[in-house]
Amino acid sequence: MTSTERQQKTAGQGTVLPRHIAIIMDGNGRWAKKRGLPRTAGHAAGAETFRRIASYCRDLGIEYLTVYAFSTENWKRSAEEVSAIMGLLKKYLEEAIEKMRRENVRIRVLGDLSPLSPELRALIDRVEAIDETLETRTQANLCVNYGGRDEIVRAVKAWQADPDRGELTEAELSKYLYTAGMPDPDLIIRPSGEERISNFLLWQSAYSEFYFTDVLWPDFTERDMDAAIEAYQKRDRRYGGVKK
Ligand code: FPP
Repeated sequence: MTSTERQQKTAGQGTVLPRHIAIIMDGNGRWAKKRGLPRTAGHAAGAETFRRIASYCRDLGIEYLTVYAFSTENWKRSAEEVSAIMGLLKKYLEEAIEKMRRENVRIRVLGDLSPLSPELRALIDRVEAIDETLETRTQANLCVNYGGRDEIVRAVKAWQADPDRGELTEAELSKYLYTAGMPDPDLIIRPSGEERISNFLLWQSAYSEFYFTDVLWPDFTERDMDAAIEAYQKRDRRYGGVKK
């Protein structure tokens, strides 16, 4: 079934596609180990999976895809692994500059970008400038040097420093998060058999549905995405209320 047929099918069933899907891209290291390859080969394969899944989300009409590419804690990994992940991001952003109009996926990078190399930050600025000119429904958010607790602390500090701040409410604080203006994730997917949040989107995941699968991220396919969306469509979201 093509993605369009699938959309029609889901529309016909009266089911709703998630507007925002978030993914913890886990299992790259184990994928590489199983093949006797260095961990960095797992990240390279994981970056390719991201590219494929982002295109699929665009075809399905998903509005936001947010992926965890590098956490505030990932600096603890070996210098070689950190630099390989940064290298993959650089390669991806360089290619995105060439292909963004064709691929038609808007890209945003979320996180504390201050420790990144000036070269990488300049690339991010270039991508985000092209971003503004694209007419697309789909935005991919790459979380880099991102931590959920760190994001909340930063938001509180930014709110406090803002002379135009409003009264402190949930909606007011949300305006100072990296995800300001975006809907909260409806569905959070974690592959590789781990079942924890790992400091990802702590504020935004308050009412998200979770989907876990044993598939390692580099092996994650469009069919796995279909399965996650189908599982989501069967969930009964009550947001703390009772079923009507
Ligand atoms: C988690 O797997 C994955 C990461 C910490 C890095 C994810 C980064 C990429 C896929 C590359 C850069 C991204 C883009 C979009 C260009 P793990 O290493 O913790 O796996 P393991 O648990 O099997 O060791």
